[in-house]
Amino acid sequence: MTQEELFKKLVAHCKEYGFVFPSSEIYDGLGAVYDYGQNGVELKNNIKRYWWDSMVKLHENIVGLDAAIFMHPKTWEASGHLSAFNDPLIDNKDSKKRYRADVLVEDWMAKQDEKIEKEVEKARKRFGEKFDEAQYRATSPRVLETVKHRDEIHARFTKALNDNDLGELRQIIIDCEIVCPISGTRNWTEVRQFNLMFSTQMGSTADAANTIYLRPETAQGIFVNFLNVQKTGRMKLPFGIAQIGKAFRNEIVARQFIFRMREFEQMEMQFFVRPGTEMEWWNTWKERRMAWHRALGFGDDNYQFHDHDKLAHYANAATDIEYKFPFGFKEVEGVHSRTDFDLGSHQKFSGKKIQYFDPETGESYVPYVVETSIGLDRMFLQVMSAAYTEEQLEKDTRVVLRLPACLAPVKAAVLPLVKKDGMPEKAQEIVDLLKYDFNIVYDEKDSVGKRYRRQDAIGTPFCITVDGQTLEDNTVTVRHRDTMEQERVAIDQLYHMVEEECSYRKLYKKLHL
Ligand code: GAP
Repeated sequence: MTQEELFKKLVAHCKEYGFVFPSSEIYDGLGAVYDYGQNGVELKNNIKRYWWDSMVKLHENIVGLDAAIFMHPKTWEASGHLSAFNDPLIDNKDSKKRYRADVLVEDWMAKQDEKIEKEVEKARKRFGEKFDEAQYRATSPRVLETVKHRDEIHARFTKALNDNDLGELRQIIIDCEIVCPISGTRNWTEVRQFNLMFSTQMGSTADAANTIYLRPETAQGIFVNFLNVQKTGRMKLPFGIAQIGKAFRNEIVARQFIFRMREFEQMEMQFFVRPGTEMEWWNTWKERRMAWHRALGFGDDNYQFHDHDKLAHYANAATDIEYKFPFGFKEVEGVHSRTDFDLGSHQKFSGKKIQYFDPETGESYVPYVVETSIGLDRMFLQVMSAAYTEEQLEKDTRVVLRLPACLAPVKAAVLPLVKKDGMPEKAQEIVDLLKYDFNIVYDEKDSVGKRYRRQDAIGTPFCITVDGQTLEDNTVTVRHRDTMEQERVAIDQLYHMVEEECSYRKLYKKLHL
């Protein structure tokens, strides 16, 4: 199965098992907007909890916030989003399709990398055991030529982005002979900037002064509340403010399911530090965030850092944490050193002093900021991609979501073997025993085998079956999701068993915080 086929299956699985639905589907959906179903909302809430607890509960110097989506329009002037939150767009005149110019070039570069890897793999097969990969990469004329061309384009691309040179960006597309995937032609328009913020009107008159924006990042709600939190919480630097909430971007190239959406959720933490210490903290947060991802056990090699070629207008250092999705390594989270740009700018635009008096140095200053910013929906997709497994069994196949138990939407399914002889009543007693602390389902429909498969498909760690013996000795059959092993367990041990396996504690301990 190719990675593309795997991804298609994953998308279909998300819909079939109540994880993710297209928004307003009965009206044929709304581009790049999605709804979370009964299992999706549970998984999403569990991911939020993992993030929130590891930030707010496990760090004494990080507190939470829940700011409004609507903010004073001046916020976006101060933050630079009104003038600089743009994507460079290009249209193909024949297909009339619109693309992000930077994404066209990035895709072209990724193709060159694939070409190089294919050459290397071909040579590995040709030379067999004698193959010296390093030497081949250093001497093969074909590989060297592709690398040289790719690196030249990469250098031009980075410069064009940093200089905001839209003409050069177009020229790169022409020089790389990039064609529109729909029309197959190179008949391109000029490259134009397009602002990504959604606007709406507040109040009863359609007056331009009332134009407000749906926030494109949650971070600004934290910046404008810096003094409120610092003063009321008597917070001392360094300290952080964490927030989970919706953000909105009018993305032009919305693709790969919930990877790039127009309405999405972010989990952001702004960490305020003394000027001059920001690079140290940036490195610390890079490591902490990478450890957070790897603790989930989806394979350390599936994550990598990717430093930004083009820094955002507010940053002096930035890296992405990328995960190996079925469509390649892609960003899940950003760790940015945002300098004093935001607080300094809000100070200027609001005319209010936004400074911190440092009792250790006796000075007042605008703090520097290191932010960690992760898309909740993207994290959801990452977890689903990593967990989705098709397993060949002796007689058939099964689809199983190998989710860490604490993230699983349902912790245990309670199944009466038959719908009679007091088994449903006994099963209901077990549901009642567990339901106050865990999300439990009761299922009496179809054969036990089919019920197991349904639970595998949503990642339920335990299936608890009530049978004839249960009525005699108060034991049940517990079937484990990953190994499919079954064991006999006393009912009064069930709570402890589910609690032990599904607790977040084991995960938190891996973070060493
Ligand atoms: N406050 C900084 C900030 O917003 P960003 O790199 O633009 O930085 C941070 O976004 C994270 O938000 C990304 O790493 C990604 O996970 C998520 N994100 C951004 N745009 C998104 C979109 N259109 N759909 C889904 N997630 C998105």
